[in-house]
Amino acid sequence: MIRLGVLGSGAGTNFEEIAKKIATGEIKGAEIAVVISDVKDAKILGKAEGLGLKAMYLPADDFKTKLEGPQEEEYIKVLRENKVDYVILAGFMRMVKKGLLEAFPMKVVNIHPALLPAFPGLESWKQALDHGAKLAGCTIHFVDAGMDSGPIIAQAAVPVLDDDTPQTLHARIQEQEHIWFPKVISLLAEGRVSVEGRKVRIS
Ligand code: GAR
Repeated sequence: MIRLGVLGSGAGTNFEEIAKKIATGEIKGAEIAVVISDVKDAKILGKAEGLGLKAMYLPADDFKTKLEGPQEEEYIKVLRENKVDYVILAGFMRMVKKGLLEAFPMKVVNIHPALLPAFPGLESWKQALDHGAKLAGCTIHFVDAGMDSGPIIAQAAVPVLDDDTPQTLHARIQEQEHIWFPKVISLLAEGRVSVEGRKVRIS
């Protein structure tokens, strides 16, 4: 059984899909040990509580974009106390730094709303739209020290339509996120994911 520590800053729809699929048995061999948010009133916390899961707000540093320093140590402490095997970034809007990555080597997994390495960073669906890309999508990847640059586990593409707004495109990407993030959790739980350099192999 792998124990997941889920970190999120927002709506928590990816977390919700994973939690539901664990509850129905569609994902086997994984459990959610703790859900942590850096945003006090983030919907993800209410959703986790509603599902009877351990949920907590843990403040992060004043730099809105990073998790480091004593607050990073606090995150590591809580994740360790909850015996977490994998740290799942489900809409966690901060860069995780060396301390957390060294505490959980190749065990931090992120979902990003673009076909990486295109459009790292914020509001990637909007970046794709503004750029005139014909394809957008999502990427699930191990986290390394760079920005959205770690080894890729899975990707799914969606078309960008002529009349898309940022909202309609993000919604189409999220449909794929909700399929593929749970699938990746299943693969991790089944021990079918290995990493060699940049290459992730699924057995
Ligand atoms: C998702 O679309 C995820 O890919 C994105 O935030 C959204 C969170 O939605 N993550 C990033 O942009 C990370 N850089 P959710 O809270 O409903 O799961």
